[in-house]
Amino acid sequence: MFALRGVSFTYPGAVTPALGGVELSIRNGEWVALIGANGSGKSTLAKLFNALLIPTRGDCLVCGLKTDNEDNLWEIRRRVSMVFQNPDNQIVASVVEEDVAFGPENLGLPSSEIHERVFDCLCLVGLEEKRRAPTYALSGGQKQRLAIAGALAMQPRCLVLDEATAMLDPQGREDVLKILRDLHKRGMTLVQITHRLDEILDATRVVVLGKGKIAWAGDLAGLFAMRDCFNEWGLEMPPLVRFSRKLQERNLLPKACLPFVKELLENLCP
Ligand SMILES: Nc1ncnc2c1ncn2[C@@H]1O[C@H](COP(=O)(O)OP(=O)(O)OP(=O)(O)O)[C@@H](O)[C@H]1O
Ligand SMILES: [Mg+2]
Repeated sequence: MFALRGVSFTYPGAVTPALGGVELSIRNGEWVALIGANGSGKSTLAKLFNALLIPTRGDCLVCGLKTDNEDNLWEIRRRVSMVFQNPDNQIVASVVEEDVAFGPENLGLPSSEIHERVFDCLCLVGLEEKRRAPTYALSGGQKQRLAIAGALAMQPRCLVLDEATAMLDPQGREDVLKILRDLHKRGMTLVQITHRLDEILDATRVVVLGKGKIAWAGDLAGLFAMRDCFNEWGLEMPPLVRFSRKLQERNLLPKACLPFVKELLENLCP
């Protein structure tokens, strides 16, 4: 799906590169969780994946197509859909269903297929009842769902989600994770950027970025074995572990939980 060879990227006017010498291959059907501290280069990498940014050094290939060749852009954007943290940046229409239809219309699909895709994708994200609503009247979480529906309506091979659940409530987050599990089962390649380790438990591979380089890559079991590095990588144990530790520090843990929590913390927290 993706092959990055010696990829560096420096923003115009910046002194230090946002990414330096990244080597990374992602196969079709993988679910890659991309994690790391603020400013480590995750969003920059995501934008290289569908040619929103072009490497300043090295090559980025999507399904074998080089992203620095403008003739490839159409094919690349058809295959890779992005969902960003801030949905306002990707909502283009004033009515919900028109927004989801925007991508498929650009593909020149027949209107019956566009209608079908729009309805299916809105159902998938639980927004079918809002299909005639004005987009400005949606909540942040609903806008995020709309952005996901719009990305899915392109029927891409790969979905890149850059903190796409950041504004969702716990149920909304679970809903999106369930959608991702279904898509992955159907063979879609997923690149999931998040700061929440409890959201990446279905990923088939984890890539940790640090200061614009790949700091570590491996599977989930390997990641949790590296917990001594979590502070350095800007990672944090999932909320329940954090919460339990805070309760323990304040002597607020119910007695019955103590042995269990003690063991949990000893095993999960360095
Ligand atoms: N438009 C820009 N112009 C100049 N520098 C930028 C720009 N966008 C990002 N950077 C810089 O590039 C580096 C990587 O940023 P990036 O947004 O890729 O990090 P990130 O891992 O996505 O962080 P976060 O977790 O905060 O979203 C940072 O040092 C950032 O300051
Ligand atoms: Mg980011």
